[in-house]
Amino acid sequence: MEVRTRRLRSSEALRRLTRETRLSSDALIYPLFVRAGNNVVEDLPSMVGQTRFSPDTVNKGVEAALDRGVRSFLLFGLPDEKDEAGSGAYAPDGVVQEALRNLKRSFGQDVCLITDLCLCEYTSHGHCGVIKEGQVDNDLTLPLLVQTALSQAEAGADIVAPSGMMDLTVVSLREGLDGQGFKGTPIMSYAAKYASAFYGPFRDAAGSAPQFGDRKSYQMDYHNAKEALWRISADIEEGADLFIVKPALANLDIIARAADEFALPLAAYSVSGEYAMIQAAASLDLIDGYKAMCETAVSIFRAGANMLITYFAIELAEAISRGEIG
Ligand code: PBG
Repeated sequence: MEVRTRRLRSSEALRRLTRETRLSSDALIYPLFVRAGNNVVEDLPSMVGQTRFSPDTVNKGVEAALDRGVRSFLLFGLPDEKDEAGSGAYAPDGVVQEALRNLKRSFGQDVCLITDLCLCEYTSHGHCGVIKEGQVDNDLTLPLLVQTALSQAEAGADIVAPSGMMDLTVVSLREGLDGQGFKGTPIMSYAAKYASAFYGPFRDAAGSAPQFGDRKSYQMDYHNAKEALWRISADIEEGADLFIVKPALANLDIIARAADEFALPLAAYSVSGEYAMIQAAASLDLIDGYKAMCETAVSIFRAGANMLITYFAIELAEAISRGEIG
């Protein structure tokens, strides 16, 4: 007796017809790094193939992505100067705020601009909040996050994405935004964010490695799965509109369980280390980087992600438009 599934794979057209997972460039989010300065378009040494812009050049990065059908972006900022309180994060003329204004002026509603909302790129010590007695102080940090969210929303952010893992961030942001006329600004919460070695290249790119200690007191222990689920449900209760699981590849089980359990849109974040691993192995001719990129991205959607934040967004959009995946 012939095995039926084999017939479903007998031609390319049939294989495509019967695919269980569909991808679209609409579901891709491209991270953009913006640093202080003018006329900056520079390569990121720790993330080969990625570029850092200044607020006046960031339009170029967006244009290149829009040409391929990617219209959603996650913005990270690198200020000129860092200080104890991370004041560059909430400066009205901060790098991200300036970039948002420029991008909205040029692209308006054609783009969805999501702002990473955290202090670690702006603090001299590299932690995600205010330090008191050698520890990150949750409650002193919250008002600064609210101030940051307001300055981002005022500058044109379509979604704010708190990534610092402080308790009660989402409800504080919701109240702060609502009180200042931003009821319509959604919150995409980094609800399940593991303390991970895969953030290494990013911290290099953002200059945000902690200067002492680590982030284990506020990011999650990768031995825990149920903790991810209760943190997501707590953030939903607090008013999150979308949520993130991160890193993606090491947490496909969490993505699958969260997708089953929660109805809100789930974004998986394929982080800098996942990108760097593929790039590095490919540069040594150990793997076919393009195929590995396609396979991992599809596996993340297959696990249940509704959208994917990835440094490969442009290349993936091209693969989708050629019909190689999706
Ligand atoms: C900020 C933040 C980090 C990343 C996204 N937002 C760094 C961290 O937690 O150290 C990592 C992204 C990546 O590695 O691609 N808190």
